[in-house]
Amino acid sequence: MQPLTVYVMQQNLQRVLSTIATLPSDVQSQVNDESLKRLTQRNWGFDFYLLPTILEYAKWLEYSDEGSYYTYPLKNLHHLKSWLSCVTGASVKEAECVVEEILDDDFLVGILVRVCLQHGMNDSASRFQKQRASVYGRRIGWYGVVRIKKPRLVIETGIDRGLGSAILCRALMRNTEDGHLGRYLGTDINPSAGFLLADPLSQFGSIAYGDSIETLKTLSSEIDVFINDSDHSADYEAREYETIINKLSKNAVILGDNSHVTDKLFQFALRLNRNFLHFAEEPSDHWYPGAGIGAAF
Ligand SMILES: C[S@@+](CC[C@H](N)C(=O)[O-])C[C@H]1O[C@@H](n2cnc3c(N)ncnc32)[C@H](O)[C@@H]1O
Repeated sequence: MQPLTVYVMQQNLQRVLSTIATLPSDVQSQVNDESLKRLTQRNWGFDFYLLPTILEYAKWLEYSDEGSYYTYPLKNLHHLKSWLSCVTGASVKEAECVVEEILDDDFLVGILVRVCLQHGMNDSASRFQKQRASVYGRRIGWYGVVRIKKPRLVIETGIDRGLGSAILCRALMRNTEDGHLGRYLGTDINPSAGFLLADPLSQFGSIAYGDSIETLKTLSSEIDVFINDSDHSADYEAREYETIINKLSKNAVILGDNSHVTDKLFQFALRLNRNFLHFAEEPSDHWYPGAGIGAAF
């Protein structure tokens, strides 16, 4: 571990220690106490679960170029396939096919590697090179919904580097090859967001910079797939749904990236008399505990 990483990790751990009460001076006399023995026996969870996560975090801090968006393979792809089938009405077999399609897609990986290298994101480039599409995490579910539902308009609010944008536009590109035209619109308040949406994928969509809700208010076309992933406060999330309520097509699918935290999409689904289903992702090889995809359909 490099000295700077060691320093930052020590600061982190120091903050943890300072929130734990000062060690009582008579602690030695308690060591034989039955309750303390029970406590130390149960402490195996620290070594088994927490320590590997803390070390994984230190490794990520040192090598990764990721900011607030993360990439990792999923342990529970089978849950995602089943979720996809329930949300889209496709058979599990069809859902499996679109998941395998994106996992085998070297064309998209090639674009991501090229653009990451152009932007000096060498660690991201090497992750895409080594682990390929497996690291897209729950975005594989977004891809599946677009491939199966064949939407004419897909909106993603909050795009960060544009990994979701690239994946969604790849789905639209394939839909176009199959004879179903569709467009993507991403929104972000950060003017430098979205650089992963490069040519030829950028031919299938565009990015509107500025506050998402302000952009959503200007939309005149019907939305077929909506993905909420911008400001993650519960209030903002709810206001995004409120803004699009009269702009949804009859069979629109609304996906929420905040549904592991709030019940806003669940409440929205109830109001629209729609089903709600949440997929909880389980990342592997990453300290991040994972988010999920809420779906109102
Ligand atoms: C979690 S990231 C999005 C990740 C992205 N969907 C992906 O697949 O990697 C959230 C993004 O929302 C943007 N954001 C935050 N508040 C916003 C707002 N009010 N309007 C538009 N974008 C916003 C941030 O700049 C950030 O890029």
